[in-house]
Amino acid sequence: MQIKSIGLFFTLYVIAGCSVNAQESNREIGNKVRNLLSSMTLEEKIGQMTQVDFAVIGAPEQLNLENPIDQAKLEDAVLNHHVGSILNAPYTPHNKAQSIETWRKMMRTVQAAAEKTRLKIPVIYGIDAVHGANYTQNSVLFPQAINMAATFNPELSFKEGEITARELRVAGLQWNFSPVMDIGRQPLWPRLWETYGEDVYLATVLGTSFIKGHQGDDLSAADKLPTCLKHYVGYSFPINGKDRTPAWIGERMLREYFLPTFEAGVKAGTPAVMVNSAEVDGIPGHANYHYLTTILRGEMGFKGFTVSDWEDIKRLYSRDKLAASEKEAVKIAVLAGVDMSMVPFDFSFYELLLELVKSGEVPLSRIDEAVSRILTVKYQAGLFEPKPLLAEAGNFATAEAIETNRQAARESIVLAKNDGHVLPLKKDANILVTGPAANLLSVLNGGWTITWQGDQESLYPRDKLTIFKALQKKSTGKVTYAGGASFDAPIDLQKTVEAAKTHDVIVLCLGEKPYAETQGNIDSLTLDQAQLDLANAMIATGKPVILVVLEGRPRIITPVAEQVPGVILGFLPGMEGGEAIADILYGDYNPNGKLPISYPRSTNGITPYDYKPIESFEQNTYNPLYPFGHGLSYTSFETSGLRVEKDKINKGEAIKVSVNVKNTGSLTGKETVLLYLNDVAASVTRPNKQLKAFKKIELDPGQTERINFTLPPYALSFIGVDLERIVELGDFKLMTGNETVNFSLTKQ
Ligand code: BGC
Repeated sequence: MQIKSIGLFFTLYVIAGCSVNAQESNREIGNKVRNLLSSMTLEEKIGQMTQVDFAVIGAPEQLNLENPIDQAKLEDAVLNHHVGSILNAPYTPHNKAQSIETWRKMMRTVQAAAEKTRLKIPVIYGIDAVHGANYTQNSVLFPQAINMAATFNPELSFKEGEITARELRVAGLQWNFSPVMDIGRQPLWPRLWETYGEDVYLATVLGTSFIKGHQGDDLSAADKLPTCLKHYVGYSFPINGKDRTPAWIGERMLREYFLPTFEAGVKAGTPAVMVNSAEVDGIPGHANYHYLTTILRGEMGFKGFTVSDWEDIKRLYSRDKLAASEKEAVKIAVLAGVDMSMVPFDFSFYELLLELVKSGEVPLSRIDEAVSRILTVKYQAGLFEPKPLLAEAGNFATAEAIETNRQAARESIVLAKNDGHVLPLKKDANILVTGPAANLLSVLNGGWTITWQGDQESLYPRDKLTIFKALQKKSTGKVTYAGGASFDAPIDLQKTVEAAKTHDVIVLCLGEKPYAETQGNIDSLTLDQAQLDLANAMIATGKPVILVVLEGRPRIITPVAEQVPGVILGFLPGMEGGEAIADILYGDYNPNGKLPISYPRSTNGITPYDYKPIESFEQNTYNPLYPFGHGLSYTSFETSGLRVEKDKINKGEAIKVSVNVKNTGSLTGKETVLLYLNDVAASVTRPNKQLKAFKKIELDPGQTERINFTLPPYALSFIGVDLERIVELGDFKLMTGNETVNFSLTKQ
């Protein structure tokens, strides 16, 4: 096996320091794991590799117990089948948020069962907390990842990590299936909003900041817990846009676009990786030895454990027909490198793997390897010596955390169009608010909110505000709602047009109803006719229309956006999103979000911003409705004086770049400066430009600041002809705003 190093220079992006103390504690943990492993039976070992859904231990939902666990079922799982991990909120498939009290009782009950086992190995309970502790009632629910990317603010992502971890720990939860490090380059994919967008560098910075906030330096700290990178790798790029369908990603593209975020997550210390539920180049994620072992272990040096995605080992047989039986599926997956199986509803994995080891088809050494990895993480996370749970007061839904969330929401909203300064609105303006997205909290949050699909409006907290209610709260004029109470309700066009006549301006809220995973599959990015009809009717009134879009992926709004003076792209701004949008509409907050994706002009116009020269050659063009990085402010900024410290740089040397940013308008505002690189000529075609650094700063009117960037040599690298990451001598361009500077890489 040839071991290539693909991650030479990430240190400047990701601080992965390993202190003397950490080394000592790693040695200590290593000894404990070896001792424990030597006293385990084969059954106990294979149990550790088994993860079951709550349904396996749950009482029927109708009983509505405060502790919804069925003791006999739990003991069967933990005592008889030695299961090492349980996941999910009660009750699959709806999965509903529980109170802190219920979670605590559940966690106590589960650990009490583990205490009764011979070796008292704790169970690790995992949960999807993808934008805050979304399965705990009244938690702080942040903007979804696509919005966090639009903030271009790693500090907010770090804080989201801190707050999410703290709130999970208050409830006693132990492991978070987050962040998604898949790159969002397929706009149809219904999980686009779970990604940090189309750019590798932006996703790397936002994702690793989240991990650091969530895990801190010590996974066993009372307010920290492990994350899980998902879904390794290539899941996000289905060729037909449907969830869980094939991707075709050549090795170069894989290494250029899809591996770096995972590598950065590994370096940032995430101890678990969830496997791609679909397939790449004809090989299902769960059968891919090359990805799971050669690259993840051999090249990236990942030491934690891998967990399958939902039922995906079984599906190697039942869906993919890659295996001739469920037993063969287990063998293929375990030998490919899957350490833990999210089975999730039975003990088949446990039983089949037991048979496979007994018959010698799976070597015991592979079991010992997987179990050691799982036990190591359990020790690292402090599960063997649990700390007292954090108190709810001061740690859960604090005023400070809610304020951070509101700030994240504000910074995540993109003002895409503001012709004739139609925005901000005056507080005494009479506003007609309309459209199915105007008066729902679910539409601000999307999937994985209170329930899996996020669409149970009646379960949403009563004290949070929809866009309509937030506008009403701030207004000194008249704010009226009409037309389309939800995505399924009919819109009374005539009544809405009538209502518009007595108002000065229309805030038209369109978008998508919430969804998660395969349930969100669509055949076209086009908006449904009912919403387009409403938009046309509103435009025809002649009143100024502000379009506000709430959605998980860029639905085509071109015909509407071109005819209205104001466009706000809200994506999924979370529980404070209604207030944040009202803050921006009224100018109480100066918008600064920037697009983390290219917003397509038409359904098939899905070229990303870092397109190759051939994509803008002859008839080909990059012509999105709004480009990557687009986002307006109520003030204006100018960048000038872009300079590279040296125009000849030695190979291996860092590149120092600086540029002035000036607030040329009359309001204080934040601006993100984006620094792009172009490799002028290379042995493999290179993107027209690629983001290599960014910085967000706040400036008062008239204020100028000089921003300094230091690019590591890694920034010049790419995957060469022989699929190794290389740097080639030659000329490069650096770009910010309208300026370009050149430099050459001259010596070996
Ligand atoms: C999803 C994962 C999730 C898992 C557990 C799967 O269906 O693909 O993202 O973590 O379920 O809920």
